[in-house]
Amino acid sequence: MTKIRIAIQKSGRLNEDSVQILKDCGISIDNGKDQLKAETRNFPMEVMFLRNGDIPQYLRDGVVDIAIIGENVLVEKGEDITVAEKLNFSKCKVSLAVPKDVEYNSIKDLDGKRIATSYPNTVDQYLADKGISYEIHQISGSVEIAPNIGLADAICDIVSSGSTLFKNNLKEAEVMFTSEAVLAVSPLINEDAKELLKKLQFRIQSVLKARNAKYVLLNAPNDKLDAVIKLLPGMRSPTILPLAEEGWSSVHTVIPKNKFWDVIDELKLAGAEGILVCPIEKMVL
Ligand code: PRP
Repeated sequence: MTKIRIAIQKSGRLNEDSVQILKDCGISIDNGKDQLKAETRNFPMEVMFLRNGDIPQYLRDGVVDIAIIGENVLVEKGEDITVAEKLNFSKCKVSLAVPKDVEYNSIKDLDGKRIATSYPNTVDQYLADKGISYEIHQISGSVEIAPNIGLADAICDIVSSGSTLFKNNLKEAEVMFTSEAVLAVSPLINEDAKELLKKLQFRIQSVLKARNAKYVLLNAPNDKLDAVIKLLPGMRSPTILPLAEEGWSSVHTVIPKNKFWDVIDELKLAGAEGILVCPIEKMVL
């Protein structure tokens, strides 16, 4: 039986969320500690735990069919690789930063400077048409230390919370682009694996929709129902059920997670009471 081969990050910031999204899709991985290739339960899939930076080449070579990887790695090493799905986790920026006490007004301030980074191609692409000269100092980790030890004048690295920049007396100078985890596809994927990819994408989309939505139940007096319903950005139209108490109804609907706090005060003002907000496990539309 055909299995789809997926690469996920062996360790690092994408690993946990990558395993979790597969789990939420009903796919559990049978692996022990340090086991780099594993089978799964409930889906014909083989998982390979690989180093982030190696994954684009494994995709290109067709050693794996798909991978969960950061867009930042694809920009650096895999511009030719197709993205099937954005996964809405591991969001970060890829930025240029300079020492806190250095005056920075525009990209021209980097002219003639040394830039330390693990992302040399990304820096080249970004600065290519900006008419400045610079020297890349390529290092594979702890990039933020470079200005403090006289190795470089600026750095390019990923910024998530900003804490590493802050703790190393650096400030963000330019946000080059934003990145998140994506599902990337090998150019050599075969037809059988493509079919499995479609099934996996269907599950992933249901999980992502559910993560972004809340199920809301509330009670409202019947004469206020129209006003309450107008405030609800629902899926299609809310479900209205009569309560045992005469003149009252229960309203059930699904709303985008980020909209809830915008409407809660208005709902209360409009007469809604007993508002319950529940998580949704999967959403198949
Ligand atoms: C990354 C990156 C930065 C840091 C930024 O390193 O290289 O150093 O995270 O995150 P922050 O803005 O939340 O502080 P990571 O911890 O992933 O390890 P790495 O050095 O192996 O890349």
